[in-house]
Amino acid sequence: MAVRNILRIGDPRLREVSKPVELFDTPELHELIDDMFDTMAAADGAGLAAPQIGELQRIMIFGVQQNPRYPDAEEVPMTVLINPEYSVISDAVLGSWEGCLSVPDMRGYVERQARIKYRGYDQFGMLVEREADGFHAIVFQHEYDHLDGILYPDRLNDRSLFGYTEELAASGII
Ligand code: NI
Repeated sequence: MAVRNILRIGDPRLREVSKPVELFDTPELHELIDDMFDTMAAADGAGLAAPQIGELQRIMIFGVQQNPRYPDAEEVPMTVLINPEYSVISDAVLGSWEGCLSVPDMRGYVERQARIKYRGYDQFGMLVEREADGFHAIVFQHEYDHLDGILYPDRLNDRSLFGYTEELAASGII
């Protein structure tokens, strides 16, 4: 178990397309996923993709537990998804101010599919299949993008809705 260094935008590894995992329930895979959870917790993140710690494998984790400090935050189940896929189940889109541990201290307004169905495998090779909406759908799509080398600033419709969190907050934009 270890907190790993999180790559930041500009590192070319974040732009690679990650490879599918072929072997499940191995000591190496369990160790990598433990490291990902330690790293996400240490950074107080809601999700993390393996390429963000330099492992170019199609693995993501995410989850938000109920926190009394943020009673309005949507709870998202703690999830490990390996070799994920998804489909869109509604035309609706949902915009939100996204952040990313690889783009620290910044936020950008991004629209994503509001309702999706996703599937993948956990670290033991068990199928995980769910419908998701709201923040759950957003965090899945954000992490999925990392597996294809896409970062949220690539998804901005309006490039003026992007900047440092502190400046955006001081201006009352967020
Ligand atoms: Ni991210």
